[in-house]
Amino acid sequence: MIKVKVCCGTSCYIMGASELIEMDMNKFKSVELEGTTCMNLCQDIDKRPPYIKINGKVYSEVTPKKLTELLEGEFYDL
Ligand code: FES
Repeated sequence: MIKVKVCCGTSCYIMGASELIEMDMNKFKSVELEGTTCMNLCQDIDKRPPYIKINGKVYSEVTPKKLTELLEGEFYDL
C-alpha cells in the first residue's frame, strides 16, 4: 500500500494542494490518499509548497502531474 499524505494547511492549500486532494487515485494500484493538517514544513525557505509525503518521504512543489509521475515511476512497483 502506498500512502500519500497531502498537506492541507493554508500555505499548501492555496499553492495547489486542493488540486492534489481531488485527484482520482482509482487508476493507481494500492494508493491511499488523505489530507493532513500543516506538516510544519512551510517554514523551510529552500523549498515551496504544496508538500506531500509518500510513504513518509517528503516532496515539495507537487503538482498533479508530478504526483502522477511519482506514482507511475519511482513507486510503481510498491
Ligand atoms: S501548510 Fe503545508 S507544511 Fe505548512
